[in-house]
Amino acid sequence: MRSKVTVVGAGNVGATTAQRIFDKGYADVVLVDIVEGLPQGKALDMLEAGPVTGTDATVVGTNGYDETENSDIVVVTSGIARKPGMSRDDLLLTNMKIVSSVVKEVAAMSPNCVLLPVTNPLDAMAQKSHEVSGFPKNRVVGMAGILDTARFRTFLAQELNVSVNSVEAYVLGGHGDTMVPIVGSTTVGGTPVAKLIAKDRLEEIVQRTRDGGAEIVNYLKTGSAYYAPSAAIARMVESILLDRKEILPCTTLLEGEYGINNLFVGVPVKLGAGGVEEVIEFDLNDDELAALRKSAASVQELVDVMAAAE
Ligand code: NAI
Ligand code: 2OP
Repeated sequence: MRSKVTVVGAGNVGATTAQRIFDKGYADVVLVDIVEGLPQGKALDMLEAGPVTGTDATVVGTNGYDETENSDIVVVTSGIARKPGMSRDDLLLTNMKIVSSVVKEVAAMSPNCVLLPVTNPLDAMAQKSHEVSGFPKNRVVGMAGILDTARFRTFLAQELNVSVNSVEAYVLGGHGDTMVPIVGSTTVGGTPVAKLIAKDRLEEIVQRTRDGGAEIVNYLKTGSAYYAPSAAIARMVESILLDRKEILPCTTLLEGEYGINNLFVGVPVKLGAGGVEEVIEFDLNDDELAALRKSAASVQELVDVMAAAE
């Protein structure tokens, strides 16, 4: 029997995610949205691509949750996206309500699933998803670090005129202005990047990475990125469903690792059939560790705002 993946939110990120997973053919997909006709229309359109792409999986769209029963993974993209001039944090209280109501529904229908929050501000929404679902921490894992890392790798590969596959890097921390590209362990073909790019230029690339989401928002004007985000989500889904145990930067609940407690923050994890099977503790230098803790502090501020609003 094929695995089952539910994607809540049939907007830009949700629909492209559903398409990427459906196209692979290893999971049946359920696409949920509150807008009548939107998930049904997009799902039917995807399904009708099957005979062309050779995909035998199914994809259905719905405004309810019955069809999501016993999903293996539930991706949550429902919520509002930012517009020019807005930060991810401006979305906090609106998306907190949407994510809380969605997680209640999906957790009741699929009590054994892995929850994969995507809605922004991501780390705070992952924290809320964990709280509302009551799931063990290994079964709630947020997407952001793979996207931020992909942006960093893209810019480094462009700078050095090499394949993106030759750039190994990790971006950790919260998915916001304080994210932490770990320059010390970034290598290009095995050579530390600091030996290949001058310090000032490297700092510009780090800053462009931090501003990567805003750069796209400023071009699009009416929404935010979705091609790279959906690719990152599909990579996580694949590592879980196929039990690939990839080491990927994802948002997970830290309980003392990196000196951070009871908070969802982006760090390297081993992602397999059990969800987060291990939190990997990199050997960070003092500056990197301080930057990671500073980033965690900004996530904590949002978590505190959510708590005060309830
Ligand atoms: P979008 O506006 O295109 O789609 C959002 C969809 O959610 C809409 O179709 C809307 O009808 C639906 N929705 C709203 N309330 C709902 C509810 N209660 N139940 C079901 N569906 C509901 O937005 P887009 O571009 O798809 O982004 C979605 C979210 O993902 C945003 O919060 C965005 O900031 C975030 N995001 C996060 C990334 C990350 O790295 N973690 C990357 C890209 C986007
Ligand atoms: C991004 O980084 C909007 O968080 C999203 O593109």
